[in-house]
Amino acid sequence: MGQATFWNLIAKRYSKANIADQESYEKKLAITREYLEPESEVLEFGCGTGSTALLHAPHVKHILATDVATKMISIAEEKRVQGGVDNVSFEVNDLDGLVARGGQYDVVLGLNILHLLDDLDTALSQVATLTKEGGVFINSTACLQGKYKAVRAVGAFFRLLGLFPTINAFTENELLEAHRRAGFAIEAQWAPEGGDVVFVVARKQEKTD
Ligand SMILES: C[S@@+](CC[C@H](N)C(=O)[O-])C[C@H]1O[C@@H](n2cnc3c(N)ncnc32)[C@H](O)[C@@H]1O
Repeated sequence: MGQATFWNLIAKRYSKANIADQESYEKKLAITREYLEPESEVLEFGCGTGSTALLHAPHVKHILATDVATKMISIAEEKRVQGGVDNVSFEVNDLDGLVARGGQYDVVLGLNILHLLDDLDTALSQVATLTKEGGVFINSTACLQGKYKAVRAVGAFFRLLGLFPTINAFTENELLEAHRRAGFAIEAQWAPEGGDVVFVVARKQEKTD
């Protein structure tokens, strides 16, 4: 869980920051809701300070929302208690830990996180393991291949000190292909204007044997 240092350092500021593009955020919430049912068991990984999980909570049975950073999770837990939400569990964990423990979910959410993980194929294969057949994986992911070389170079330096997160740069096509390799079919995709982010709804295919 080496990633945690940076995120613990910025957790308080992250929780107070305004959402950069409120309209796109609300559209992503609305698209996600189309896939939520009152009986849905939901997993969110990389949940940050938990705002999105808490907003979706009234629409599902239960959300397990996880993050590698203890400070993110303690802020999320404070918000959960303040809001009197009893069907969200916040937990410090990452995909390795979740997969090792088992369990499968109707809906898995990974928002602004896939590009921060070391290996896209490994992450998507773990997400596939955690998603029920016929269930969906919904993610919002920055596709940064060829962009921000200077930022990434500076990042490499600070990463050595544990002060900057991993940034994994891939194209939108590479992202979508990696979903397919992991056994997902792309059901919907949407790229908010003027950014590098793509919002993807991918359905885990049923095994044919
Ligand atoms: C950019 S923030 C996104 C938070 C939230 N999903 C959102 O959209 O606001 C990335 C989050 O991923 C968490 N994170 C980074 N690496 C992780 C990992 N390997 N496993 C789980 N969470 C991780 C960080 O602690 C941070 O809270």
